[in-house]
Amino acid sequence: MLPRSGVMATWAVIILAAAAMIRAHCPSNCSCDDDTLVVLCKEGNLDVIPITLNPSIQRLMLMYNRIKIVDASFQFYGALQYVDMSHNHLVNVPNKGFEAQEKLVELHLNHNKISSINNKTFIGLVSLTILSLRGNYLEDLPDRLFAALPKLEELDLGANRISRIDPASFQGLTRLRVLYLDDNQLRAVPTPAFKFLGNLAEMRIGLNAFTTLDDDCFAGLGRLSVLELTGAALINISTDAFNGLTVLRRLVLTDNRLSAIPTKQLSGLARLEELSVGQNDFISIEPDAFKGLVNLRMVDVSGASQLSVIRKGVFNDNLNLETINFSSNKQLATIEDGAFMGLPNLRNLIMRNNAFTSFTEAMVTWQELQQIDLTENPLVCECSVLWLKELLARRNTSHVNCASPAPLKDKPLSSLGSDDLSCAKYYTRQQAIVGAVFGCTVAFIALMLLLAYRFRKRLHHSLKKTFWNKETVNRKDLEYQKTFSDDEFIVRNSNTHHHHHHHVPPPPPPHNSQQHHGTQQYHGQHQHRGVQQQQQQKPQHHHLQHFQQHLQQQQQQQQQQQHQQQSNDHHMMMMMMSPTPPPLPPMHHGTYSHHSQHSYQPHQQQQQRHQNTMPHRNDKPIPVTEL
Ligand SMILES: *[C@@H]1O[C@H](CO)[C@@H](O)[C@H](O)[C@H]1NC(C)=O
Ligand SMILES: *[C@@H]1O[C@H](CO)[C@@H](O)[C@H](O)[C@H]1NC(C)=O
Ligand SMILES: *[C@@H]1O[C@H](CO)[C@@H](O)[C@H](O)[C@H]1NC(C)=O
Ligand SMILES: *[C@@H]1O[C@H](CO)[C@@H](O)[C@H](O)[C@H]1NC(C)=O
Ligand SMILES: *[C@@H]1O[C@H](CO)[C@@H](O)[C@H](O)[C@H]1NC(C)=O
Repeated sequence: MLPRSGVMATWAVIILAAAAMIRAHCPSNCSCDDDTLVVLCKEGNLDVIPITLNPSIQRLMLMYNRIKIVDASFQFYGALQYVDMSHNHLVNVPNKGFEAQEKLVELHLNHNKISSINNKTFIGLVSLTILSLRGNYLEDLPDRLFAALPKLEELDLGANRISRIDPASFQGLTRLRVLYLDDNQLRAVPTPAFKFLGNLAEMRIGLNAFTTLDDDCFAGLGRLSVLELTGAALINISTDAFNGLTVLRRLVLTDNRLSAIPTKQLSGLARLEELSVGQNDFISIEPDAFKGLVNLRMVDVSGASQLSVIRKGVFNDNLNLETINFSSNKQLATIEDGAFMGLPNLRNLIMRNNAFTSFTEAMVTWQELQQIDLTENPLVCECSVLWLKELLARRNTSHVNCASPAPLKDKPLSSLGSDDLSCAKYYTRQQAIVGAVFGCTVAFIALMLLLAYRFRKRLHHSLKKTFWNKETVNRKDLEYQKTFSDDEFIVRNSNTHHHHHHHVPPPPPPHNSQQHHGTQQYHGQHQHRGVQQQQQQKPQHHHLQHFQQHLQQQQQQQQQQQHQQQSNDHHMMMMMMSPTPPPLPPMHHGTYSHHSQHSYQPHQQQQQRHQNTMPHRNDKPIPVTEL
């Protein structure tokens, strides 16, 4: 080893000296930047790696040339961090070909003709993080092939001819996060090799010939977040195939030959957020097809050439669904009403290029969607899609063109009026019925109003009774009324009333014993007046209600007292205190309750205090000074 290093060092010195003499030389068809230390020789017709570049270069890009071999020239560029030799004619890489590249982070060897590599190929690449060998002629991944790459995080082996992967091929790749094995010739999932990939987060392994996925075939990939199985020739999937993928968030099963959504197989993937299952052979999507996928946010079923119906209840379990993408399903013409209902988070609905001739309002809660794509469907523009026209017009969304009838072909639906959609014809039938029903209703209401007016007095009288019975006295009270004498009833009822007060905010003003007495009397003896007031009280602002009631009660207490006195003073008082006419007829009593209230203020100091805290109404209290 030592002599060899010595030789190398000597060489390096000689070359460096030479470089210093002739200055760093930049080949024609290349651009060399000595400040950024970048050399770019794209499509430069190069046959070999240039050896006269600045030895300090950090980025070397030689893509689209005709370089056949990684030769000793790399020895001179020990500062390289990034090398792109993609799209060249490399056939192999000599052992230790990159031994000097201990700072190299990214190495792109994709799209060459490399057919064999071994466990000495990558020696020295201790910093390498990204390695692409996509698009080469690799057939076999031998034992500990990548063991020299302790920092590797992303490895692309896609589009090769790999048919065999040694169980220990990935040994040492403890940091690997992304592995592409798609587009190879694997006949079975290389489960035994996964045991060294405990940190793998993303794997693409589609475009192989698996036909089936066995139970536990992804064992060892406990941190896998993304699994792509596009075009893996899957006919069926074993029930426990996805066992152990506890944190899987995205699964792509597009372009296989599955005859049904693999409901049972998927049901354990509780963390799954995105699922693509288009281009498969199912004819329908049944209720609960995505059972258990409670975190699903996006589902894509596109290009399923035989899919013709989507049943109601498909997404029963998927309340987090945000995006439904059903595109390019050439036979998809039926979605059962309510199929996409009850999905509170649904925002994007892409249904383009299917076979729908119509859409129903009951399919989904259209108003809540942000993105609606219904383009390229053979829509029949008739009155039944008038609602859709209006929806689309309101939302300024993508154009939905009519396919028929002939006069409307290729016209955007949103540009049509209700006349174009033959709604007049449609309505003559529909509206005949609706109109008749409506007309009858109006006539009936008019008749009732007329009768009500004609017999208003009698009605008023009977209403009084009814309201009284229903509202003021509950059944219990009525029983009491029957059972007890008036005086007994007063006492009992006042107790219950008092009890209620403790639960009703705002707290009543302090009652003196006289007021209590008044309350009792009100409830017991003068129920009729109370009824009238409640009845005639206009609906109050909610926050006023309790207070309002309280004021009424106080007012009624006053009236009560006055009645008890049964004196002429009463009328005199009223006339003195208030500019309003003396005692109004019962009908209007409630309306004037506030005036009445204020008119009593001089006698009820506590009430006045309370009143000051009350929000003002339009009918101003009469100032005491005016009286
Ligand atoms: C530079 O590239 C062009 C085409 O990309 C090629 O025709 C030409 O020969 C190249 N020049 C050299 C010196 O390689
Ligand atoms: C490299 O592979 C050979 C067989 O191909 C094996 O004998 C040898 O032990 C391996 N060396 C390392 C370092 O993995
Ligand atoms: C998958 O399908 C093949 C052929 O149709 C059948 O032989 C096999 O038993 C099936 N496997 C499972 C797990 O259903
Ligand atoms: C819907 O799915 C198709 C096919 O997978 C895809 O090409 C398209 O981008 C998707 N559309 C949206 C809006 O996600
Ligand atoms: C509708 O959307 C298009 C682009 O999609 C935009 O150019 C146009 O101004 C929008 N019209 C209205 C009325 O928002």
